[in-house]
Amino acid sequence: MTNENIKAVILAAGKGTRMKSDKAKVLHKTLSKSLVQRVIDSVLGTEIADSIYVIVGHQAEEVKRHLHEEFSPKTIHTVLQDKQLGTGDAVYRAYDELNGFNGTVIILCGDTPLITTETLNSFIKHHKENECAVTVMSAIFNDPTNYGRIVRNEKNILKKIVEEKDATSFEKAIKEVNAGIYCIEWNIISPAFSQLTTDNEQGEYYLTDIIDWAVNNELKADAYVIDNNDEIFGINSKAHLAQATQILNQRKIQQLLEEGVTIVDPNNTWISPETEIGKDSIIFPGCYIEGINMLGDANTVGPNTYITGNVSTGNNVKIEQSKVGNAQISNDCIIGPFAHIREHVQLGANTRVGNFVEIKKSQVTGTTNIAHLSYIGDSQIGKDVNIGAGTITANYDALSKIKSKTTIQDGVKIGSNSVLVAPVTIQEDANIAAGSIITKDIPKGALAITRATLKILDNWVTKRLSKLKNN
Ligand code: UD1
Ligand code: MG
Repeated sequence: MTNENIKAVILAAGKGTRMKSDKAKVLHKTLSKSLVQRVIDSVLGTEIADSIYVIVGHQAEEVKRHLHEEFSPKTIHTVLQDKQLGTGDAVYRAYDELNGFNGTVIILCGDTPLITTETLNSFIKHHKENECAVTVMSAIFNDPTNYGRIVRNEKNILKKIVEEKDATSFEKAIKEVNAGIYCIEWNIISPAFSQLTTDNEQGEYYLTDIIDWAVNNELKADAYVIDNNDEIFGINSKAHLAQATQILNQRKIQQLLEEGVTIVDPNNTWISPETEIGKDSIIFPGCYIEGINMLGDANTVGPNTYITGNVSTGNNVKIEQSKVGNAQISNDCIIGPFAHIREHVQLGANTRVGNFVEIKKSQVTGTTNIAHLSYIGDSQIGKDVNIGAGTITANYDALSKIKSKTTIQDGVKIGSNSVLVAPVTIQEDANIAAGSIITKDIPKGALAITRATLKILDNWVTKRLSKLKNN
């Protein structure tokens, strides 16, 4: 259900000078999602579905492209702020889009990826229940350095926000900081934006000055203090990015531990927030699991396994020291050590993929062994198949750049070191002798063998040595 009365504005036009990067700050990733993407995800959870305005400016094209790749253009609208004149000016850019809107606008920064939907929901609820014209989210920080400070009067009522650079030493000692997240009643507060000035230390239009404006106009302004300070952590440097990723990771690990997953070394395991893992699974040290994954119950993962994006597994799957991306793996499969399951792979139940095996764009029906040193690409493999060590599906013609398909039907046995030159079909129960090069379809139940005749030269070594000695 969408709430027609709430719209969101997300500020993402700044350069992020302190990141020391060629890439716009909000595009940096934390556990496979960008900073701005995480903020948007949390906002979308609050049922503000079709009305999020993202203010873009620095590297606007790249940021827009990223947003259009990840979200529906119906959900996310971008608004250009061509000169970064400050956070107040950034919101002012959305004036035309919001013209005539008679509801609440929630404003967030694109660089605070740890904010949760739950906190946003209680923030919006507080704003509405108290019938405020503007509410700002705040938190009490032991070290408030760099954040705007929340200034209250002697009756503890919100008076204004002062930026660190403009603060007196008395104000600098205030530990209540501005999270940079606001709820405003648009028709009441919007006149403030055309009245902001740059009369401050940074010469910028400060969004924070809307509080001062509301108080002076005798409108109800409030600060909503949250308990979990991590949620409003703003990313301004690579050190902050590393710290935010640690926090996201530990949140996920705590959740999984509570759900009955064994994580042997929580300090040496990385799991994206979007990953689900079933109970009685064991995650060994050194695993890096990113993207959106669904792992079943009683899986064993690791050590040193890299799972990257859209992996789903059944129950009792064992993956060891391998890299797996975009695969569906059914019950009781064993992968690795040192296997590489690439994109678009489906493995049926009881498939065994052993060491130094690479598989891409292939389906395996199940109860099949691909135990050692093989490359399987663009293939369809039936059940009860045995792929001998060193089998290669030669799927690629490097001159035409065409990739062709290999079909291996149920019950087929491929001898070691065979090359199957695609397109080719090996029909049911056929056998391929070791070392064969297969360039034609092999009929059901046949043996295919391509092999040079074996010669045995008796006593050849002795003869050779005596010849060398006599020379
Ligand atoms: C801002 C707040 C500060 C608060 C802090 C919380 C102001 C004046 N200060 O400071 O009180 O404690 O956030 O993290 O608002 N942006 C634009 N256009 C601009 C300038 C900035 O879109 O012209 C965007 C940036 O991309 C960023 C966000 O606004 O996502 C905040 O800007 P930033 O420079 O990080 O502000 P802070 O100094 O952190
Ligand atoms: Mg910031």
